[in-house]
Amino acid sequence: MTEFSDRILDWYAHHGRKLPWRGQSDPYMVWVSEIMLQQTRVESVIPYFERWMEHFPNIRVLAAASEQDVLLVWEGLGYYSRARNLYKAARIVVDDFGGELPHDLTTLRQLPGIGRYTVGAIASIAFGLDVATLDGNLRRVFARVFDVFVPADSPNGEGILWALAEKHLPNGYAGDYNQALMDLGATLCLPRNPTCLHCP
Ligand code: ADE
Repeated sequence: MTEFSDRILDWYAHHGRKLPWRGQSDPYMVWVSEIMLQQTRVESVIPYFERWMEHFPNIRVLAAASEQDVLLVWEGLGYYSRARNLYKAARIVVDDFGGELPHDLTTLRQLPGIGRYTVGAIASIAFGLDVATLDGNLRRVFARVFDVFVPADSPNGEGILWALAEKHLPNGYAGDYNQALMDLGATLCLPRNPTCLHCP
């Protein structure tokens, strides 16, 4: 625990958003939410997430559906490769892993549509593992708080930002820490006109 993570966690306890996939220990729900959130804002994702869970309440139902049904329920969210990969990965998980998302990070990352960001999000939020993650919001928060002036999309910038995310990760609270940073980046630490006066 560093002063940074201490403040972030305290802020999250009071100001974290209540979202339908939060407080769910079902890794499938966390996974679906993270894939939907990759390129879409939280407010737009919520109704799609709820509808998705009505149609495909668990991974076995999803794996048994047709790709056409899957794309129909996704329709409107855009970036359809996300839905195709989610479906492909669900079939692999059911066929090869007994319907359980693998906890091994290397295996998890080999599933279609799951990159370093999603592995970190699923491992920390759903499995409670001490794994960092980094998306656009987190890159901005770390760059601002720790004065990183190297471009975030350069190899050097990437290395610095991942190292910061890992350095401050509070063991035992990685899921809250990662989600706190996502909320901070989405509500206060905005790209334009951030509300710095309220920043923890
Ligand atoms: N953006 C991506 N993943 C998120 C999550 N779990 N909570 C809030 N915003 C997010």
